[in-house]
Amino acid sequence: MALEHHPDHVPVPDHDLDYSCFDLATLTPHIGAEIRGLDLSAPFSNEQEKEVRRALQDWMVLVFRDQELTHEQHEDLGRRFGELHIHPQLRGAKIAHPEILPVHTNADSPFTPGDGWHADVTCEEIPLWGSMLYIRETPACGGGDTLYADMYMAYELLSGPMKRFLEGLTAVHDGAGPYSEQLAIGLGKAAPEKQHPCAEHPVVVRHPDTGRKLLYVNSGFTTHIVGLSASESRSVLDLLFRHIDSTPKICCRVSWSPKTLTFWDNLSTQHHAIWDYYPHSRVGGRVSILGTARPSA
Ligand code: SIN
Repeated sequence: MALEHHPDHVPVPDHDLDYSCFDLATLTPHIGAEIRGLDLSAPFSNEQEKEVRRALQDWMVLVFRDQELTHEQHEDLGRRFGELHIHPQLRGAKIAHPEILPVHTNADSPFTPGDGWHADVTCEEIPLWGSMLYIRETPACGGGDTLYADMYMAYELLSGPMKRFLEGLTAVHDGAGPYSEQLAIGLGKAAPEKQHPCAEHPVVVRHPDTGRKLLYVNSGFTTHIVGLSASESRSVLDLLFRHIDSTPKICCRVSWSPKTLTFWDNLSTQHHAIWDYYPHSRVGGRVSILGTARPSA
C-alpha cells in the first residue's frame, strides 16, 4: 500500500495564515489557534467578522486572551454569528441573562460541566453551530484546561471499510442522560415543555460551511445507533469513543488565563473540561449560537 493511502496519515492542512485584521498563532498543525490584536468588546467590522469565520472554519477552536467583556458584550459577540441558544436547563428561568450558561465550579460542586468528551447539546434537533466560553477566574492552583478534538480528522483516520459501514447510519442523542444526572443532584432545571431534548442525527455529517465530512457521535449525548442490536451499537460506539479518547494527535489543549474567551465550532469538534483543581474555583459563562438546519450527511 502506498504510504499516502495509509489511514494513519492525514496530511497537515494547507490553510492561508494571512489575516489583515489580527495575528493568528496555531496551537497544533491541525486544530486550535490563538488570535491576537482583536478587541471583542467593540463591534466587529464586516471584514473582521469574515476573517474570524474563516479562522474558525480552518482552526475550529479560537482563543482570545485579555478580553474585558460584560455579559451584554458577550451576548452581542455571539449574536454577530447567529441566534443565541438558551440551554434546556435555563428555559423559563427568571434570570437576567438566560443566554449565558454559568460554568462555575468550586469546592461545593458535585461535578463540573463538560467533564467528559462531548459536543454541546447535540440532543437538540438543530444543534449548536458554535460556543463561546468566557472564563473570568481560573483556579489559583493552575489547571482547569480544556481539551478539544477535531472530528474531521477523527473521521479521516478511520479505515475505508469502517467509513463505509458508518455512512448512512443514524444515532440517537438524548439529553436525559446528562441532564437527569445533573437534576438528580439538585442542579439545573428541566425544560418545562420538553423535559429533555432528544434527536436523531447521522453518524457521519457533512459540515454546512466547509462541505467536509466529520464524525458526529459523542459520549456525552449519543446513546445508540439506530438499526443495530443493543450490543452491536454499544460496541461500535465504544470503539468510536475510544478512537476519540485515545488519539492525541486530533487534540489541542487550551490553558485558560483570566479573561480568556474561546470560540469553538461545535459541529467539527468535541471538548473535555479537566477538573484537576478541586477544591479551587473556576468561573465563567458560555454563550452558544444555534445552527440553522439539522445536521445532514
Ligand atoms: C463546556 O462543556 O462547555 C464547558 C467547557 C469548559 O468548562 O472548559
